[in-house]
Amino acid sequence: MRPVLRSDELSAGVSPTQPEIRRVSAGETDVLLARLEGGRVIAFTPTCPHQDTSLEDATVWDGSLRCPRHLYLYDPDTGENILPARDALPGTLWKLRPGYLSVYRVEEREGWIWVAGAPEPPPATYDPDQERRPSRPPEPDAPANAAPTGPLVHPSEELGATAGEELEVELATSLRPGYLWRGEVGDGLVVVSQRIDPGSGATFRVRIRAGDPGEATMRWIYARPWDVEPAEVRIFVVRIAPS
Ligand code: FES
Repeated sequence: MRPVLRSDELSAGVSPTQPEIRRVSAGETDVLLARLEGGRVIAFTPTCPHQDTSLEDATVWDGSLRCPRHLYLYDPDTGENILPARDALPGTLWKLRPGYLSVYRVEEREGWIWVAGAPEPPPATYDPDQERRPSRPPEPDAPANAAPTGPLVHPSEELGATAGEELEVELATSLRPGYLWRGEVGDGLVVVSQRIDPGSGATFRVRIRAGDPGEATMRWIYARPWDVEPAEVRIFVVRIAPS
C-alpha cells in the first residue's frame, strides 16, 4: 500500500450519484479515486474495460460504477460487470464484451488515502471464454421465461406551439438500470434541455423549442444502449403556428 492523496483532497462530489473522481499515480500505474455515499473511498482503473472510455466522468447508479458511454455497470468492490452481464441471454456475452473492472484495495488512515500497488484478482464470476466469439454461431435458444419481445408503442400525441416557443414534454420513466430515453427530433424542433426528475414519480423532462411554422415530429425511445429493440416508444407531432 502507498499513500496517494490526502483525505481532505477528495470530496464527496456533487451528489451520491456524481462523486468527485480524482486521477492519482499509484506507483507504476494511474488509478481513479472516488468517495462513495457514506464516505468510503474506492480505487479503479482509469478506463472502461468495454471500449476503453475514460471513467473520469463515471457516475454511481444504485451502488455500482456506471461508465458514461454505454452505461455498463461495475461493482466497485469486485469489479464484476453487473449490467449487461447479468441480463444477457446465453451465448450473447461475446458481443457485449463487458470484461471486468480492475479495482484496487484502499485504506484511509493518518489523513491519507492508501492504495494497493496491484489490482485485486478478477471477480469469481468473470469467465473470459464467454466473451470470446464462438467458432460457430450458437443456435437461438431464448429461455422460456425471456422477456416478451416488441416495444410498447404509445399512441402518437399532438402538441401545439408558436414559432420560437419552448414547451416541456414529460416521459414517465421506471429508472430501470441502464435504460435511457433517447430522442430522434425532426427538423423544426430543438432540444433545449433534458433531465430526470426523481422527485415526481421518476419523470424524464425534455424542453424543446419550436422552429419555423409547420409540422415537426419527434420520436423518443426507452432502451439500453446495447438493446436492438427499445422497451417503449413515444411519438409527438408538434404543430407550429406563426408567432
Ligand atoms: S465503453 Fe464503457 S460501457 Fe462501453
